[in-house]
Amino acid sequence: MHAFSSLLLLGALAVQSVLGRPDLSARREAEIIKRSADSFLATEGPYALKSLLCNIGPSGCLASGAASGAVIASPSKSSPDYWYTWSRDAALVFKTVVDTLSNSYDANLQTNIQNYIVSQAKLQGVSNPSGSFSNGAGLGEPKFNVDLTQFTGAWGRPQRDGPPLRAIAMINYAKWLVKNGYTSTATTAVWPVIKNDLAYTAQYWNNTGFDLWEEVQGSSFFTIAASHRALVEGAALASTLGTSCTACNAIAPHILCFLQRFWSPSGYIISNLFSSGRTGKDANSLLGSIHSFDASVGCDAATFQPCSDKALSNHKQVTDSFRSVYKLNSGIAQGVAVAVGRYAEDTYYNGNPWYLSTLAAAEQLYDSIYVWQQQASITVTSISLAFFKDLVPSITVGTYSSSSATYVSVINAVQTYADGYLNIVANYAHANGSLPEQFDRNTGVPLSASDLTWSYAALLSAKARRAGIVPSSWNAAAGNSVPGTCLATSVVGSYVSATAVSFPASQTPSGSSATVTATATATGTGSATTTAAATATPTGCASDHQVLVTFSVKYATTYGQSVKIVGDNSAIGAWNTAGAVALSASQYTTANPIWTVTISLPAGTTIAYKYIVVNTDSSIKWETDPNNAFTVPSTCATTATKADSWH
Ligand SMILES: *[C@@H]1O[C@H](CO)[C@@H](O)[C@H](O)[C@H]1NC(C)=O
Ligand SMILES: *[C@@H]1O[C@H](CO)[C@@H](O)[C@H](O)[C@H]1NC(C)=O
Repeated sequence: MHAFSSLLLLGALAVQSVLGRPDLSARREAEIIKRSADSFLATEGPYALKSLLCNIGPSGCLASGAASGAVIASPSKSSPDYWYTWSRDAALVFKTVVDTLSNSYDANLQTNIQNYIVSQAKLQGVSNPSGSFSNGAGLGEPKFNVDLTQFTGAWGRPQRDGPPLRAIAMINYAKWLVKNGYTSTATTAVWPVIKNDLAYTAQYWNNTGFDLWEEVQGSSFFTIAASHRALVEGAALASTLGTSCTACNAIAPHILCFLQRFWSPSGYIISNLFSSGRTGKDANSLLGSIHSFDASVGCDAATFQPCSDKALSNHKQVTDSFRSVYKLNSGIAQGVAVAVGRYAEDTYYNGNPWYLSTLAAAEQLYDSIYVWQQQASITVTSISLAFFKDLVPSITVGTYSSSSATYVSVINAVQTYADGYLNIVANYAHANGSLPEQFDRNTGVPLSASDLTWSYAALLSAKARRAGIVPSSWNAAAGNSVPGTCLATSVVGSYVSATAVSFPASQTPSGSSATVTATATATGTGSATTTAAATATPTGCASDHQVLVTFSVKYATTYGQSVKIVGDNSAIGAWNTAGAVALSASQYTTANPIWTVTISLPAGTTIAYKYIVVNTDSSIKWETDPNNAFTVPSTCATTATKADSWH
């Protein structure tokens, strides 16, 4: 696989494109390159799937000692020590595993998926340095020990991409269940776990956190894109299951609105907002785009679809940013594939290309080809022009139908370009196909964590997209209209322990008969309970119908004071002031000193509560007796308000 001839080939291609004779020569090279990508994938695909499964407990060949369903990041226990399970990595891995199952049923994959969901239900309840389950804060913890106990060392936490990505992975399996006639399993076993992650996303999306590389505190494009998708897809699944996700519907548009902020007029996505010291050009954005892929919305720019003009312009700028920084890339012309890392300023292990970043660059292009072929046209805008000019220098702004020569040239050139990224991975993988995390920026020698699970997932998804196998729609068409005004609103969620999850045996696709079963060992530790179960269901609404109740109270505070609500429901701290929920002063004025908060509560619930004022020294001033009381309407209404005056 370290084919020196392939390296020469890349050099040759660079010269061809500099000579400016794209058509004939590019097509001839395309055939050669394609053949080499084909032969690499023929062996690497099965190797990657086998290796990925080796990293999943309890019986993965390199995961001995990991809990059932736990994905280890890598078997490497030192230099670097990746012998942990990360919520993000595990979710991305299982998103791909479910896609693989959906494409071709395999009982072993299904067992692993079910074990994963059972393990995550348990993990949601594990208190950790990011917080506990009762107010959802603990769900933002990025990594755990492989036996699913908390990791207490110093770390960049919280990381808010874990819950939405995990929701997306589990929704993927719930959709498989529904498609195969097992809707009640999706409702009883998977939805309760998904719901907690959706509640987290609706509550915390507008808070800063650490990015996917665990280095920068701020707002990350990748995290925000995943948060938006999770709520849109979660709302769609809810309605399929005959229930609803009120908070998903209320909050998703505001996340999409905020997502637009990441676009720089200079033609790229600024991967991290509210942090400094970098350009923002980062594989974060390539990953954000491919994980938001939904072919049903074509090249939609609001959701940064892979073939949108914004995402293509960003592809050029991000990949170009690595051309001059790695010796490995020297002399390779724009429009020809290069090794891609995380971001140009990276110094981790001296800053090297990563397999999963290089594969993401390929995958975005395969996604694009799929959509162009589906819509039988390619549109070049002033935003994407520079991207296309690297490949077809004579191209101009316009729409090219599939019958045009320009369309054919672009498709061939993009295919060649994408396969070039794949060939870089082929060249610098271990000879036996093993993919660690990185390869050396000067020599291409594989390095850092061995057998990185995410590297294998990235290989599998790029391979599938290249073959025209795309994931099912996440309903982006219902969630891609950007509101005129962006609001910083969120909803305080109710978190209900789902550790009793279990899967019935033999839920195979019709006609198949393998036996698969998984059951959780409910520990109950750290889990909260709510009054949801005791609530009468409003007629005509889902049994878990939630209402977004906005509480408001007027209180003239002095600088540093905050107003909170605490009461007899776990969503508002169960009378423990440590769990009291802060109100927002976003509508506060001197003339009208109003504090508000929106809390998601089950319809019909009655709560008793008080407001408290917390002073800078943490001392608390309580409202006097009696308690305030409120009964959430037992109608199908999705919102309610309760205006109180401080007493
Ligand atoms: C919260 O949302 C508002 C409105 O989009 C935005 O201006 C603000 O920067 C966001 N803050 C964070 C931390 O996401
Ligand atoms: C593949 O090669 C790497 C590097 O030489 C080695 O560490 C690994 O054990 C090999 N894997 C297998 C499955 O042979």
